[in-house]
Amino acid sequence: MPTHPNITVVTGAAGGLGSAIVESLLRRGDRVIAGDLESASFDRLLIALEQNGTHAGASNLITVPHDVTSAESWAALRERAREKFGEPSVLVNNAGISPKHNGLKLDGLDIPLPEWQAVLDVNLTGVFLGIQALAPAMKNAGYGRIVNMSSLAGRNGGRIGGVHYATTKAGVLGITRAFARELADSGVTVNAVAPGRIDSGMVAMTSDAYNEEYRKLIPVGRLGSAADVAYTVAFLTAPDAGFITGTTTDVNGGTHMQ
Ligand SMILES: NC(=O)c1ccc[n+]([C@@H]2O[C@H](COP(=O)([O-])OP(=O)(O)OC[C@H]3O[C@@H](n4cnc5c(N)ncnc54)[C@H](O)[C@@H]3O)[C@@H](O)[C@H]2O)c1
Repeated sequence: MPTHPNITVVTGAAGGLGSAIVESLLRRGDRVIAGDLESASFDRLLIALEQNGTHAGASNLITVPHDVTSAESWAALRERAREKFGEPSVLVNNAGISPKHNGLKLDGLDIPLPEWQAVLDVNLTGVFLGIQALAPAMKNAGYGRIVNMSSLAGRNGGRIGGVHYATTKAGVLGITRAFARELADSGVTVNAVAPGRIDSGMVAMTSDAYNEEYRKLIPVGRLGSAADVAYTVAFLTAPDAGFITGTTTDVNGGTHMQ
């Protein structure tokens, strides 16, 4: 168990779920390295932190332009983390894309190869590169927490994301279990979170009418919130969660139970 606060990397940190995760982990006292491809979008994150009164923790936060698909970018992010806080002990692989065309997915039979490849690169290879970049130091330290963002689509094939999206999110469950097994005896846990329809980020790409239709299918009777997901990530990345590894936590209001 660490004697110091978690040093936590969150990818896709400027997005809907990423911002909520950063905020929740800052409140817990983590030192946070927030990476995102769209570094201009960090303004939104910083304003949200200010509005929610988390500015007190802002000195515990650095924002870093970061591309999860690039091993060089991972090396640079790790270096920034080490300079500012020390070697990361927590990795939240949250970045993801779900391409839409006028708000709709393409049918699988129509997805062009570059779009397929781009989704695999971000949603799956990004997770692989992140673990390769940061887990060796966690392993040496004998402590680490890794959470990979999957999706309900990885469980049930999805409705709104395309075939590529569902494929990668199912792949996230596989890479989670495989690394969980490999790292289990070194104090590093690896778990996945599978959100259902969350009223945040990507969901804004579909119409209110569609989201209302979807809401009626959710037993809990509402869409999820970013805070619902952030709470789950905080739980799985807590120092006390050391006996939980290789799992998938569904955050879907009962839409899919197993
Ligand atoms: N919102 C939902 O309902 C929902 C449901 C299930 C799963 N998810 C998953 O949660 C995660 C976050 O989703 P969100 O709703 O916050 O989406 P979002 O679009 O708001 O945020 C995603 C972030 O990832 C960043 N990103 C994209 N490509 C990147 C790259 N190559 N390198 C680094 N950053 C990159 C984007 O700039 C963006 O800020 C994704 O993995 C998504 O698949 C979301």
